[in-house]
Amino acid sequence: MDTSMAGQSGARVPLLLFHAFPFHAGMWEAQVEALSASRTVVTFDCPGFGGGGEAVSGLSLADCARLGSEKLDGLGIDRVVVGGLSMGGYIAMAFLRAFPERTAGLVLANTRAGADSEAARQMRHTQAAGVRASGVQVVADAMLPRLLSETSVNEIPDLRDRVRGMMMNASAEGTAVMLEAMAARPDSGELLSACTLPACIIVGESDVLTPPDEARAMHSMLRGSELHILDGAGHLSNLEAPIRFNTILSRFLDGID
Ligand code: MLT
Repeated sequence: MDTSMAGQSGARVPLLLFHAFPFHAGMWEAQVEALSASRTVVTFDCPGFGGGGEAVSGLSLADCARLGSEKLDGLGIDRVVVGGLSMGGYIAMAFLRAFPERTAGLVLANTRAGADSEAARQMRHTQAAGVRASGVQVVADAMLPRLLSETSVNEIPDLRDRVRGMMMNASAEGTAVMLEAMAARPDSGELLSACTLPACIIVGESDVLTPPDEARAMHSMLRGSELHILDGAGHLSNLEAPIRFNTILSRFLDGID
């Protein structure tokens, strides 16, 4: 059985979720559990992560969106609300760009519309070389201190270890490929400004990687959007504040059905 699809079929719009970097679909466990009683929730592992198989050299974020779309074909699902957190949000935007007819709405969590600056691109290429030479802990060590708010680290004792465990599960080549893919992604400002679909933007108040100003910018671009800033949460808001995250998501989806 494909465990990355859960829930009910029927009139309710399905949800397709893309994971953050360098995580896997397991990061959506609490959302799948909460939402799949009432609708189909499909999660997707990028190649090199979780159950996504071998890393694919030269893979782009648009390729991940296409693979997600092919997964929907295989499941007989036509239209979805597409969402993602951080890199998953970049892939959700690539999905909207490639498959507007399949997109019923957007969930953009802890992400940004803009492309990388030249300095950020250089940094990703340096990190990709480091991962290929020394393994995925290069990225895990660099990212871990910046992913969770102080509140979450103090109040959810096992979260830090769970987060590190998920990152260490990624393949080194998959991690390097996705760093290169993120560096090459286009700016999505025009795409979002032209989009009139319902959109749910969520961010942690203490997110230092994609701060609330990035969410506010997307909110001003997306005419049909709602914005939620979760106090006490950092970059991994769905893991840090799962109950609030799920309530927001569930209300948003109910409004689209
Ligand atoms: C993520 O959480 O997916 C990454 O921080 C995204 C990024 O590096 O731009």
